[in-house]
Amino acid sequence: MPPPCFHDLGIADEDVEQGELVSTSPIDGAPLGRVHVATREEVTLAIERARTAFTALRTLPAPQRGEVIRRFGMELRTHKEALADLVTLECGKIRQEALGEVQEMIDICDFAVGLSRQLYGLTIASERPGHRLMEVWHPLGPAVVISAFNFPVAVWAWNFTLAVVCGDSVIWKPSEKTPLCAMACQRLFERACTSMPELPKHISQVLQGSREVGMTLAKSPQVALVSATGSCRMGREVAPVVAARMGRYLLELGGNNAMIVTHSADLSLALPAVVFSAVGTAGQRCTSLRRLFVHEEIYDRMIEALQKAYAQLRVGDPRDERFHVGPLIDSRARQHMATALSQAQKEGGRVLCGGEVVTPAAKLNGAYVSPAIVAMPKQTAIVMQETFAPILYVMPYKHLDQAIGLQNAVEQGLSSSIFTTDLREAETFLSAAGSDCGIANVNVGPSGAEIGGAFGGEKATGGGRESGSDAWKSYMRRATNTINYSSALPLAQGIRFPTTD
Ligand code: UN1
Repeated sequence: MPPPCFHDLGIADEDVEQGELVSTSPIDGAPLGRVHVATREEVTLAIERARTAFTALRTLPAPQRGEVIRRFGMELRTHKEALADLVTLECGKIRQEALGEVQEMIDICDFAVGLSRQLYGLTIASERPGHRLMEVWHPLGPAVVISAFNFPVAVWAWNFTLAVVCGDSVIWKPSEKTPLCAMACQRLFERACTSMPELPKHISQVLQGSREVGMTLAKSPQVALVSATGSCRMGREVAPVVAARMGRYLLELGGNNAMIVTHSADLSLALPAVVFSAVGTAGQRCTSLRRLFVHEEIYDRMIEALQKAYAQLRVGDPRDERFHVGPLIDSRARQHMATALSQAQKEGGRVLCGGEVVTPAAKLNGAYVSPAIVAMPKQTAIVMQETFAPILYVMPYKHLDQAIGLQNAVEQGLSSSIFTTDLREAETFLSAAGSDCGIANVNVGPSGAEIGGAFGGEKATGGGRESGSDAWKSYMRRATNTINYSSALPLAQGIRFPTTD
């Protein structure tokens, strides 16, 4: 019996009966369905279709492109529960977070609809009389979105909704671990397109498969933009391939996010922020809190409070609202966590709690593990690595400059935060000499960003920005136009060229 959400989301039995790629639930290891993996020929065909769709979409007025996204947002509202159920089933995040993820999609739809009437360019003062200088934003071309298992629907939606209002067709290569989430989103988008005959076909296509499918897409000169979310390793493979053909890429890669808790911090805020950021999505967000720098004066108090809070965490079936933490995506992830914990111990760390295999009451066959707190004497090699699991390394510090330096010492630069009630500390952290991350928060944890801001980070995180603010510009090309409405032909920079005198 397929799960009830399949029917609601338009996933038919025949969609998931055959195929080379098996989707299994991290909750209990049960197979959810099989999907077809795109062949090389199908990838080529999809690129051709995306090009044809783009040619039509680029001249459709942007507000009409916004209209289909508005309708998609309505579909998401109607099927929010079902899609959240599927997200929980296929990626294992707890229901509250799955609902939050679908809400994030709805929010970005609303944002994109508004944006579809606000793709503004500038008018610039020309140095020449009778001239006007302006810039116009045009659709860029077919875009490819490569997404990760941990946000199987929202991160695609950030890219997809903006790309469509910007006039780009999209091919989605989802994570091999969450193919059904992608299938469901495609079905919902197809429903949104019905009764809009003016829309071209193939605005959205999904190609399932592994690395090869993604790399074939990345290599194609027909693909204008490759937006990839995942590990730094993946980004290092994709970026050179796209760069070699002078394509555009947008990378949102790993994070090794930190929080600094100063001695003036309001611990009643800091504590829940640490717990949510460190154990939310079982530590498998790119924004997850992994490194905690605590001022030495409050270090012992903070450790004690954290241990108490962690003792109350319940690990188990993510469908059951009593649990805070679901399973890791697979047993490999649990193995990585165990390896990191033993390495941390070798490097002088003390595991204060967690890291144990948890067997839920219902004996679910998933990679359940208790979130760990590790007291580290200093920021050693293992702390500087991103392990995609709920491990929180805690380190004391004395001076804020030292803590900021340690925070910035890792290769990634995604998200960061400070808890303080001291204006000087807060502003120092946010200043040019402060956090070097794309996201820097005060009295807000590093995880759980709103869609309205630009999302992404620096250094090995890849430098891309998705979601809000002016991230839409990545999905368009800018044309600078100079218009001469005078009856003379003056040259810029005052150049006098004999034939123009
Ligand atoms: C990710 O983990 O790739 O800020 C995205 C957050 C979420 C998005 C995370 N809104 O934690």
